[in-house]
Amino acid sequence: MSNSVLVFDSGSGGLTVAAEIRKKMPNVQLSYVSDGGFFPYGKKPHDLLKQRILDVVSAASELTRPDIIVIACNTASTIALDLLRAKLNVPIVGVVPAIKPAAALTKSGVVMVLGTHTTVNSAYVKQLIADFATGCRVLVEDSEALVLASEQKLTSDPFDGQNVTQEMQRIFAQHTASETDVLVLACTHFPLLNDEIKSAIPSHVNVIDSGLAIANRVNTLLKMECNLNEQAKTSEVTFYTTGELDSSEVKQRNIELLLDCSLTQRHLSI
Ligand code: SIN
Repeated sequence: MSNSVLVFDSGSGGLTVAAEIRKKMPNVQLSYVSDGGFFPYGKKPHDLLKQRILDVVSAASELTRPDIIVIACNTASTIALDLLRAKLNVPIVGVVPAIKPAAALTKSGVVMVLGTHTTVNSAYVKQLIADFATGCRVLVEDSEALVLASEQKLTSDPFDGQNVTQEMQRIFAQHTASETDVLVLACTHFPLLNDEIKSAIPSHVNVIDSGLAIANRVNTLLKMECNLNEQAKTSEVTFYTTGELDSSEVKQRNIELLLDCSLTQRHLSI
């Protein structure tokens, strides 16, 4: 039997983490759950989100019986990880902003953390800054426009990245941003816009995200806790959504390319 990993996100952003997991462990059985019926999470009240995340992840976990759950959403991880770990009897890996590596990488001492409003203002992120980046100036920025543009990119061919360029230029035009030399993508949606983001900001700025580190962590945990099973590569991935099934052929193809898989969509009722 293959090991099975469930990846959760509010929308399609967690696919960037799922893609790293597929590259590192093409043999794991991957299921993806998107809370499309409640997307976007970015500005919704914490208490509402916490219960919703617990309900969706519990339902998906009962259905897919994973060895490991990855909460591939910074917003969900920064507010609901403790609750999920207390309620679910499955190892859970959260995705939180890569502030520690950013603090180690910066030469100018100025780091920017770009995520959703909830993520960048969370107690979790404040604690990460206090624990790992006290020697740096950490600028926090949020952008719902970038979350929406990421989703739009998946359904567009070609994609017009002009809004992304304008949004990044607006953020970097602020005088506080001028010394930034590391940009932390603190939302799993944003790596979908890697090319557009990098071409809109100064070329010396290093852009980092958590995808590869999470794939490595999942690999280690599977080896430690569940006997990583080196079966042949699996090519099937199931994409569950609490929202409407997506009829966009472009999106289907883009996800299949990103995950190097054949994708089946299913509705998840909760
Ligand atoms: C969102 O739903 O607003 C994006 C959540 C995230 O990936 O942090």
